Amino acid sequence: MKRRTFLKTTTLAAAALAAPGLTMAGASKKLRIGTITPGSHFWTQTMDRVGKSMAEKSGGAFASEIFPSGQLGNEATMIQQLQAGGLDMGFLTVAEFSNRIDDMAALFTPYLVADVAQASKLLTGATATAMLDQYKTLGMKGLGFGLGGMRHLISRKSAATSADLAGRKYRITPFAPLRDFYELMDVAPTPVPLPGLFDALANGQVDGADIDLELAWKLKLYDQAPNLKITSQMMFPVVAVVSGKYWAGLDAGEKEMLSQTVSEEIDWLFAQYVEFEPKWLADLKGTGMSVSSAEPEFFGDTLAQWNGIWEPKAPSIAALRAEAQALA
Ligand code: BEZ
Repeated sequence: MKRRTFLKTTTLAAAALAAPGLTMAGASKKLRIGTITPGSHFWTQTMDRVGKSMAEKSGGAFASEIFPSGQLGNEATMIQQLQAGGLDMGFLTVAEFSNRIDDMAALFTPYLVADVAQASKLLTGATATAMLDQYKTLGMKGLGFGLGGMRHLISRKSAATSADLAGRKYRITPFAPLRDFYELMDVAPTPVPLPGLFDALANGQVDGADIDLELAWKLKLYDQAPNLKITSQMMFPVVAVVSGKYWAGLDAGEKEMLSQTVSEEIDWLFAQYVEFEPKWLADLKGTGMSVSSAEPEFFGDTLAQWNGIWEPKAPSIAALRAEAQALA
C-alpha cells in the first residue's frame, strides 16, 4: 500500500525548515507555539515565520519554539494548555473553537465567499476582526484569522448531485456545523485524523472526504479517491490565539509587535493559498483524476436547512454575509 506523505512545496519553506532552531536560552521572552499541522504545511510555516520575525524585530529578546504535528496533544488539549498558561500561543482550527463558541460557526456558512482571495478579505474584515474579541471568553487573546483554503469533495465514486452521497461515509473534521451539513444530506460524517485519511480511503472506512486542495495533493489522496468535485462550499479558517496569562505579561510595545507580526505573516499565508490553489488543482488534474465543478445547486435544499439551524445560533452570519456581498 502506498503511504501518504507531505511534500515540501516551496524552496523558501524548505530553507525555513532547514534553518537552525532559535535557541530559547538567553532570550528574555519565550514564545511556545503549538499547531496540529506538520512542518511542511503552510500553517506551521506561518508560525515559523512569526518566531523568526519576532526574534529579528526584538533583537533576540523573543525566542520561539514551534511544536507542530500535535506534539503537545490534539487541539482540545492545546486549548486547555493555553487556558492554564502552559502554552503561550496556538495556531488552531476555528473548527475546534466552534465546539466552544457557537458564533464561530458563522465562518463556516456555506457559500459566503467564492474563493481564497475573497476569503482572505473577509477574514481580515471588520466583522471577523470583531469576532476575535470572543476568544476572551475562553481566557485567550485572538490575534487574527488565517485560512486553510476552500473545501471541496473528494471521493472513491463520482456523484452527480448531493443525492448520490446519501448513505456514504465522508471524513469530516469533527465540529457541529460541518456534522450538520453532512447529516442533512444523509451522509455519515466520520471523523478521521488527517494522518489516517489515506488509509481510511484505501480500506473503505470512508467513501470520501471534505477536503482542501492542499491536503488532497500533499496527502496524495488522489491515489485512493480519484473523483474531485470542486464545490468551494466553505472556508476553513485558522486562528492565532495567545494565552491570556502570556498576553498579560507583555508590555504595550511587545503586544503591538506580536499583533503586527502575526498579521504580517497571516498575510503571507493568504498569499500562499492565492498562489498555490491553482497549482494544486493543475497538479491534481495531472494525476488523471476526474475533476468537475459544481454550483451551490449541487447541495439542493441542504443549504437552506443549514441556514435554518445555524442563523439563530451564530449571529455573526448576517454581518459576514453583508460584508461578503460587497466583495463579490
Ligand atoms: C482538517 O481537519 O481538514 C484540517 C486540519 C488542519 C489543517 C487543514 C485541514
